[in-house]
Amino acid sequence: MSSTWWRDAVIYQVYVRSFADSNGDGTGDLPGVVSKLDYLEELGVDALWLTPFFPSPQADGGYDVSDYRDVDPMYGSLDDFRTLLDEAHARRIRIIVDIVPNHCSDAHPDFQAALAAAPGSPERDRFIFRDGLGEHGELPPSDWQSKFGGPAWDRVPDGQWYMHIFSREQPDFNWRNPAVREDFDRTLRFWSDLGVDGFRIDVAHGLMKDLEAPLRNTCGADNAPLLSPPEGDNHPFWDRDEVHEVYREWRKVLDEYDPPRLAVAEAGVSLDRLPLYVRQDELDQAFNFFYLRCPWQADEFRRVIDSALAGVASVGASTSWVLSNHDVVRHRTRYGLPNGTDPVKWLAGNGTEPPADDALGEKRARASVLLTLALPGAAYLYQGEELGLPEVPDLPAEALRDPIYERTGGREKGRDGCRVPLPWNADEPAFGFGAGTPWLPQPQGWGRYAASEQEGDEGSFLALYRRAVRARRQLLALAPGDGIEWINAGCDVLAFRRGPLQCMLNFGPTPVPVPAGRVLLSSTGGEPQELGADESVWVLA
Ligand code: GLC
Repeated sequence: MSSTWWRDAVIYQVYVRSFADSNGDGTGDLPGVVSKLDYLEELGVDALWLTPFFPSPQADGGYDVSDYRDVDPMYGSLDDFRTLLDEAHARRIRIIVDIVPNHCSDAHPDFQAALAAAPGSPERDRFIFRDGLGEHGELPPSDWQSKFGGPAWDRVPDGQWYMHIFSREQPDFNWRNPAVREDFDRTLRFWSDLGVDGFRIDVAHGLMKDLEAPLRNTCGADNAPLLSPPEGDNHPFWDRDEVHEVYREWRKVLDEYDPPRLAVAEAGVSLDRLPLYVRQDELDQAFNFFYLRCPWQADEFRRVIDSALAGVASVGASTSWVLSNHDVVRHRTRYGLPNGTDPVKWLAGNGTEPPADDALGEKRARASVLLTLALPGAAYLYQGEELGLPEVPDLPAEALRDPIYERTGGREKGRDGCRVPLPWNADEPAFGFGAGTPWLPQPQGWGRYAASEQEGDEGSFLALYRRAVRARRQLLALAPGDGIEWINAGCDVLAFRRGPLQCMLNFGPTPVPVPAGRVLLSSTGGEPQELGADESVWVLA
């Protein structure tokens, strides 16, 4: 097995809770994933990234882990996981699990022990406990804000405060404590010994905090800076240089295995600093959220693609391309919004203003998959995008489960709208998701996106994805390598050559001629001579 299989892989994200429910309890589970492996094999993906299925009170959809080395009964058992590994491997599909090192659940035994122990104890030192400010310590130790809204500090009965970048049920670990590090090494080995092929590292840029007293306030700068020079390192808790020490240690653990286990970082850092996470002695890959956030414009895409390729080339890594995941508005819907619309604000109004142009979003989503799959590097697909699923922006307030809704006092709706359980079969209960009532309501008409409806329809999203993933694999055999060569086809057109393949996407209103050669695939189906607005094509020279 190639030790760098991931460089050009197509990796499919399974949001386990919403994928397929095997036992009718309304929640997706591991046997549900097994039941869909034939479908995934046919789609042609190389690997699955499974979102956390570990024991968890589910305060943040499983990103609040109470035991890192087991399976939550709601998702099945460790034996079910072993079955999934075996069955996936038998189909040459690799398995990536999601490791959440920045924080655990407040139900984790280590945090419970810390709560029971005294201030200054070794138990508390596994987390970030501090005395408060003010005469009686009644004020938080700093102005740090939680990503989910409200202060990043909560007070415990003896008066101390603990830090949580996310919800109060997700206390942050103290990564300067060797016991914390050792425990995560054990977790990496536990899953690697079972045979997993890699790890997705949650909030990889957040582990190290500047805890020098007095704590530095952020004065409202609560995200990692979008633009910072490689020598950055100036935020008290995002993207600090010391975090790389952790990944150098992890590299050694990952390299104990043959082939070495993959690690892909979720690091919301500047484009300049992202390559630091994928240096040879650190992690392998990092999500490219610049691609995901790129406005629908040819020059912007070209800039993001060039910078991403140059960044990874500087450290010998390969980049990734991602358009959707379980944290953002699905791209079919985003692409139907006028440029410049903030999807989070749009969601806050239940997706009414401005109205999304679904036909436009659909066209662009179809065009974009050919772009994504033509580029060198790994492509990460989010479950349901191959069905052309849109966002569900108008879930009723009482159905919402994302802690963001509550923590922002309802100002933000949260991420449930991209997590609605998948439609598999239009004629079955819950559209084939499972026999029970799904944990999030599926909208009326969800059945029209069902895989059953698209099967056998050559014009469907599913057919386009299947053909593109397959063709990509064949082309890669002809043209490995990380380079592309831009072709000048006008300001509104993105066109490039990669080996024998030419990919072209027209972002502008004026039709452009399709390059000479054999049309392999087009976003509209058929073999067009011209590309209209928001259409794309693959041509073999
Ligand atoms: C990551 C996950 C997100 C989660 C957060 C806290 O951003 O993708 O779903 O809420 O980390 O763990």
